Formats: sequence, C-alpha cells, structure tokens
Amino acid sequence: MPPRSPFSVPEGLPPLVPEELARVEEMVALLRERIADAGGSLSFAEYMETVLYTPNLGYYSGGLHKFGAQGDFVTAPEISPLFGRCLARQVAEILAQIGGGEVLEVGAGTGALAVDLLEALETMGVMPHRYRILERSGELRARQTETIATRLPHWIDRVLWCSDLPDPGWTGVVVANELLDALPVYRFELSEQGLLEHRVGWEENQFVWYALPAEGPLAAALEAWNDQYGQTLGIGYVSERSLAAPAWLTTLANRLSRGGLILVDYGYPGREYYHPERSTGTLACHYRHRCHYDPLILPGLQDITAHVDFTALAEAAVASGMAVSGYTHQAHFLLATGILDAFSPLDPTDVAAQLSLANQVRRLTLPQEMGEIFKVMAMTRGVEADLVGFQHRDLRGRL
Ligand SMILES: C[S@@+](CC[C@H](N)C(=O)[O-])C[C@H]1O[C@@H](n2cnc3c(N)ncnc32)[C@H](O)[C@@H]1O
Repeated sequence: MPPRSPFSVPEGLPPLVPEELARVEEMVALLRERIADAGGSLSFAEYMETVLYTPNLGYYSGGLHKFGAQGDFVTAPEISPLFGRCLARQVAEILAQIGGGEVLEVGAGTGALAVDLLEALETMGVMPHRYRILERSGELRARQTETIATRLPHWIDRVLWCSDLPDPGWTGVVVANELLDALPVYRFELSEQGLLEHRVGWEENQFVWYALPAEGPLAAALEAWNDQYGQTLGIGYVSERSLAAPAWLTTLANRLSRGGLILVDYGYPGREYYHPERSTGTLACHYRHRCHYDPLILPGLQDITAHVDFTALAEAAVASGMAVSGYTHQAHFLLATGILDAFSPLDPTDVAAQLSLANQVRRLTLPQEMGEIFKVMAMTRGVEADLVGFQHRDLRGRL
C-alpha cells in the first residue's frame, strides 16, 4: 500500500474538521518523538498501543463517539439487550457450578453489557457477589458509571472499577466482548530473507512501513509460528501475531482459582487464520462506519483491530491448567442460550415489536452479519458440567 498523509480520509468521506486536524497533529508529533527515541522505527504493536490508548489522545481514551450510529462501529451489546441476556444464562450456569462468585467484565465499552447482564442475572435470581469492571480508558470508565447509575441505580454501589486483573485465588466468571481484537498486534512478512517484522517509521511527512529482522520475544514467537503454520504459506505472505492476547489470558488463568472465562470476538482457529488465501492479514480500521485497511492514516481518530487467533488462546489456557469448555459461532451460542425465547412474551398482534426483535436477532445471528465471524470461547477451572451455550454446536475440534 503506498504511504498516504496521516491526515488523509477514506475515499468519499468529508475532510477533517479543525478539531480533528489538531488531534491528529498532536498524535503525529507524539509518534514522531517516539519513533526518534526508538532509533527510527516502532513495532506495529507500539504504534497501535499509542494511537489507541494514549491518555486523552488515543482512540479509546480521547472522548470520541466510537460506538453506535454517531461513532465508527457497532458492537453486539449496542445492537440488542438480547446479547447480554443470553450471556447471562451462561454466566449463571457457571456461577451455580462453583457455588457463587463475582463477575468481572473486561473492556466494558459504554456499560451496556453490564446493565443487560446484571438485569438478566437479577431476573434469574443469580446475583454475583460483586460486578467488577476492568477498563483501560478513563473516558469509558466515566461513561460506564453514567450508564449504570442511570439505568441500574440500585447496582451502582456494588460495581467496582478496578485497575488490574483480580488477585490470585479469585472465584467467578470473566466476560469480555470484543476486547482481544483491540489489543496491539505485531505485523510480519514471509520474505526471501526469512521472517521480517513490519515496523513503522516516518519519512517525508508520512508514516511508512519498514521490513526488518525481528528481535527479542517477537523473533522467538515468529519462529514458533513458522514451525506451526509457515510451511504452507508463500513468499510475500503478510499477517499479524498477538503476544498481548495469550499473555493476558495466561495472567488471568493464573489468578482464577475456580470459575470461567467467556470470550466473544471475531476470529478464527489458527489454521483458518493463517490460511494461504488470507495473505494480507486481518488488520482493519474503522472510521465513521467505513472499514478500510490503512492503519497509518488518522492516528488516534480511527479504530484499528485484528482478528483473534482462538487456537493461540486455547493453547495458553491449557498451558495454564484451564479446560477449553466450548468454542462455537456466536449464532449457535445465542440460539443455545435461548435468544428466540424473547418472542414468547410478545403480543402476537404487536407487529412493530415483533419486527424490531426479529431485526435484532437477525443482526446477531445471521452468518453474513455477526453470526458466524464472531465466535464464543469458554475456558473453565473446576467446572464439570457441559456448558449450555455450546450444546447446539461445539467446534472445539477445529481449534
Ligand atoms: C472494541 S471495544 C468493546 C467494548 C464493549 N465490550 C462492547 O462490546 O461494546 C474494546 C474495549 O476494551 C477496552 N480495553 C482495551 N484494552 C484493555 C485492557 N487491556 N484492559 C481493559 N480494557 C481494555 C477498550 O477501552 C474498550 O472499552
């Protein structure tokens, strides 16, 4: 991809307004300083970390709309409360198995899922001892507080925002929707000279890619990747590797004494992720509901994501002594946890309500919408039962 000015917008969209221009300018200055300090280039993971999470300036930390119609993308909890209600059934089952515990949501966005989950758990009479939220963005923490205080005021004193994963010995259920796709990844290429890391530099008023030999922990991770997947892929193949996601999972697994972890995200098992046809990787950017593939423009103004390698997560969980208790498409998980039950209480003559619900179910479950690309994975420790969410279809054999 030829380099473009960091101020370029995707084709067909209006130019940046002065406030946005100022923001990109500030981010460009910060990145140039970091590139200079690092001797001329940053790993893509460092670039992604900076543009997404720099306090007050990064995409997730800088007060942009992000979620919903006025933002850049829509997530399942923002589409429908049915998502949280279904997830609540799975959470309740695990809590019952372990004799009760806490719920921890990591990366809680606007707080919509927290409200839906707590409401549904309350209706089922399965109350967690406490609802914890671990959220990196100060701005989103404030939004979550406002959402819960407004929609579920009697819960606000029992929600605890924390700054780290729980201490070892923790008992409960962790949920994370679209967290792992937002963690920084490294980018690499299979070349004639072997595996090269794609790093980000600055030349002639643009961010540019450099392909350089990988070093340190990344070099070791890429060698392991090459043994596992590289043999079937050709020269020029570009993809990403996340060191952050398996490391996060390992830390969490080591602190969870009993309970489970339910991850929902878009992604594939390793063999499908690193498929010969997916030869440019899965990095994608979202800006004003436009998806494009140039992460070097609009630093701090656009979301950058990469798909999740679920095999790497399963391996990290098993290495930490957890069981992978289920892996399936979002559609199958939602059907198994009763998404269609929402129709029964509706008045059959209330066509508007029926249509609105049907539309929500379609967006969450149809294969061409979120139903197939999004997967649900559950890891547990000390839970014997077969989990309800995976009883329609369990795809663990593909991992
Ligand atoms: C794509 S958004 C998803 C938000 C929400 N779960 C939803 O489904 O609408 C990613 C969220 O994860 C948060 N986040 C990213 N890295 C995190 C980390 N290491 N710990 C906690 N939160 C994190 C972001 O600030 C943001 O709230």
